[in-house]
Amino acid sequence: MTEVDFPRSPIPAANVASVPQRSPLRYPGGKTWLVPHIRAWLDSLEPKPELLIEPFGGGAIVSLTAVMEGLVERCLLAELDPDVAAFWKAALRHGPELCERVLGFEPTRDAVEALARTQPDEPLERGFRALVLNRTRRGGILAPGASLSRAGESGKGLASRWYPETIVSRLESISAHADRIDFRETDGMRVLEEFAGTPGSVVFADPPYTAGGKRAGRRLYTHFEVDHPRLFQMLADAAPEFMLTYDHAPEIADLVRRHGFHAVQVTMKNTHHDLVGELVITRGPTRHSERT
Ligand SMILES: C[S@@+](CC[C@H](N)C(=O)[O-])C[C@H]1O[C@@H](n2cnc3c(N)ncnc32)[C@H](O)[C@@H]1O
Repeated sequence: MTEVDFPRSPIPAANVASVPQRSPLRYPGGKTWLVPHIRAWLDSLEPKPELLIEPFGGGAIVSLTAVMEGLVERCLLAELDPDVAAFWKAALRHGPELCERVLGFEPTRDAVEALARTQPDEPLERGFRALVLNRTRRGGILAPGASLSRAGESGKGLASRWYPETIVSRLESISAHADRIDFRETDGMRVLEEFAGTPGSVVFADPPYTAGGKRAGRRLYTHFEVDHPRLFQMLADAAPEFMLTYDHAPEIADLVRRHGFHAVQVTMKNTHHDLVGELVITRGPTRHSERT
């Protein structure tokens, strides 16, 4: 394995307050900070891509940004976690009912704990439950064992992350674009197998970070097993243009080098305010990365 140092990206990580927050989910590992890179990358492609494939959806900030800002015509979003998937089905197919549920909910500890004990099957109820738990559990973590936010912001307790009007306005924007967002509850690797390489498509992949024995992906998500070498191989074989994000692990640097891909480093603050290095990987240099 080789230690490779990659150039620093000319685009800094965005301060999350400076870009529109379009996802109703608070997502561990969310990519709001990457939005300026996504804009520059998609803008630099000729011809303009029609379809963005996002195989590891989560809070889907990249797909939402790309569709809502007209950077692509459509997106195809996959997610394997059944709670997160139920949320996307509810948001895309039952938007007005989901908004009603949000506006009618009082996030007391009792109400949240009672909702957590339910096990609804049907997408609207399951999706609403996932949204409430995502916004009231510490760090937005839905994986088993996640705890409820205790004091919350300014001692407001569980309600500190429950902003019904803001959530509803994001849900309304999603409903308004729902005919351009194709959601599948499935394995993102299968979606790549089937659709990467579709003419006019590009791929944005943000897999759980588990390469090199890293623990974060395991702690944060119910589904975290990804065959990283296979993902790199599939992108190399099938996707003409892609963007891939990873933490800066030696195994990943090695895969980048082996495939002759291009990577830049972005330094950002994680939720604990530590400085961490992330890699933004593309097939070759993009117009914005060449400015270094
Ligand atoms: C790093 S997060 C994505 C965060 C997202 N980019 C955002 O901005 O919110 C990875 C997501 O992939 C999901 N996931 C894990 N394995 C998957 C698989 N094989 N297929 C589809 N989704 C998967 C996890 O449940 C998690 O939601």
